[in-house]
Amino acid sequence: MAENEDAVTSGNIENPEEEEMELSLRPQTLNQYLGQERVKKEMSIYIKAAKQRDEALDHVLLYGPPGLGKTTLAFVIANELGVHLKSTSGPAIEKTGDLVALLSDLDPGDVLFIDEIHRLAKPVEEVLYSAMEDYYIDIVIGEGQTTHAVHVPLPPFTLIGATTLAGQLSAPLRDRFGIVEHMQYYTVDELEKIVLRSSDVFHTSIAPEAAHELARRSRGTPRVANRLLKRVRDFAEVKGEQTISWATTEHALKQLQVDDEGLDQTDRKLLRTMIEGYNGGPVGIRTLAANIGEDRETIESLYEPYLLQHGFILLTPRGRMVTDKAYLRLGLPIPGDK
Ligand SMILES: Nc1ncnc2c1ncn2[C@@H]1O[C@H](COP(=O)(O)OP(=O)(O)OP(=O)(O)O)[C@@H](O)[C@H]1O
Ligand SMILES: [Mg+2]
Repeated sequence: MAENEDAVTSGNIENPEEEEMELSLRPQTLNQYLGQERVKKEMSIYIKAAKQRDEALDHVLLYGPPGLGKTTLAFVIANELGVHLKSTSGPAIEKTGDLVALLSDLDPGDVLFIDEIHRLAKPVEEVLYSAMEDYYIDIVIGEGQTTHAVHVPLPPFTLIGATTLAGQLSAPLRDRFGIVEHMQYYTVDELEKIVLRSSDVFHTSIAPEAAHELARRSRGTPRVANRLLKRVRDFAEVKGEQTISWATTEHALKQLQVDDEGLDQTDRKLLRTMIEGYNGGPVGIRTLAANIGEDRETIESLYEPYLLQHGFILLTPRGRMVTDKAYLRLGLPIPGDK
């Protein structure tokens, strides 16, 4: 999960109330899980086949920007398989012993979900190789003279790994996932359906054109859509509106400084820094991170993919550069134009 304090795009869930809301917003089945049609179609076949053979599903790697539903999908997969899911994250598994404890606690067919799998410690990762491939672990017990290796067989299990930065995964680890799914940004139509479903969960009603506006400005990301919906609902409640209107949505989004294409303050700050500090680039990632006060990983996993996809920046061998579209968006003159 990306470290980011921004209330709108944050990947972090900090308070329990928020967490409960997150849980109730989470779809439970593939049918309730909206969008990601290709991923769902493939997964439903693999799940069906594994169930028919009464085998553990092959290991699954889910990658893509924060908030696109990787964690949600992992839970949905376990639910569809009818097995338990144990959830942890790369940095939480400090020692190989922690991993052994997690794995030996699984029932046959269960899912072990490791979030931020690109942040696994190397020794832990190496133990994972044999666990994934042949369902066993060799561990070394004792010290000095009494040292001996123990061969621990494991129940067949499914590892679901999630990462925002697939490029940081080592090749041996990546190769051990039989199923690799790239999560895509959602379309406006899909996000609109998610907004309508979430407003049902909140017991609020929202005008269709307001839901559309929210969807359009949610950076292709369900987590952003849900957060914006919560804020817009606050504005509507204070105004005494029964149904969240388009006008209130528009007003609230303006207050939240979310622009027409869903760019938020940090997106704009990033573009502005590249233009004003570096004549539009090329700029290296480290320089950029230091200048805008975000960590490198957040920029690479959260901000850059969206700006790239929407043509605001380009990646070149010497660093990232802004495009004319970025100048236009910020209302700045394009260099060279008279
Ligand atoms: N396909 C979907 N349909 C409906 N809601 C969704 C969908 N995908 C995600 N959501 C909602 O979006 C929010 C974020 O999803 P989730 O936590 O699964 O994202 P993530 O990809 O794991 O993010 P991160 O990389 O930050 O861990 C959740 O509240 C979830 O309910
Ligand atoms: Mg997650």
